[in-house]
Amino acid sequence: MVYVIATPFYAADHFFGLCMHVFIDSQEFGMLDTLNKVAVAKPVELTAKQLFMLFPTPMFTGMLPDIGMCDRIERKLREIHKSGKGYPSPSGKILAYMTPDDLQILPEMKELVDVVMEESGIILDALAIRRESHYVTNMWANIANPNRRHNYHIHSNCLLSGLVYIKTPKNCGRTIFASPRMNLKNIEPSYFQKNELNADVFSLPPEKGRMLIWPSHVPHAVEQGTANEAEDRIVVAFNVMIRGLIDQPTARLYLG
Ligand SMILES: [Fe+2]
Repeated sequence: MVYVIATPFYAADHFFGLCMHVFIDSQEFGMLDTLNKVAVAKPVELTAKQLFMLFPTPMFTGMLPDIGMCDRIERKLREIHKSGKGYPSPSGKILAYMTPDDLQILPEMKELVDVVMEESGIILDALAIRRESHYVTNMWANIANPNRRHNYHIHSNCLLSGLVYIKTPKNCGRTIFASPRMNLKNIEPSYFQKNELNADVFSLPPEKGRMLIWPSHVPHAVEQGTANEAEDRIVVAFNVMIRGLIDQPTARLYLG
């Protein structure tokens, strides 16, 4: 199974073909209409134009094949919460419980770990990363007030990070992602339209059973929600790392 290419810069071997496609199919890439209009060049414009989308930040997403998995996982997470393991909510604050971070070893989480391992393997292949193997280094869950916000952060000591939405009350906070290069901008014009060429923030509506996987260096946060606080927002998060020798002169590293 492969991911649907949502942007024109995913597969390196299709790079040039897809870049040309940007100019040919204005329906599919509506945000680039302004550029597409030069298909018939005016005398003052270049001919044979191309646009290269350089150094993209990939975001992979899909739905669990069995949404019932979310309910089975929620039952296990509630059980862990009740047992007193993990990190309780700060006293006097709204619900913000975090489980222990080694959920990947639990038999009840195996069906989710299997999906994570399969999809992260496909992504590591897409990124052409040499390795002996890969594994889930940490997996944990947050059971929180649906409107609780969380500051921007990155995940350290891993290559890929991800989450799966287990419970998503209507209007609960979105997980939002920021461009790793956002802070390199010192001039921020105002835009008449947001598109792939100027956006610095990305989010999808939280949806039970949706998994997102991204390079671990991408900053992300949870925005404040406006949900009915009777229900919790539950998310399982995870990190993935590779094993093997990174055989690069002056940067050799063995990951056992
Ligand atoms: Fe995170």
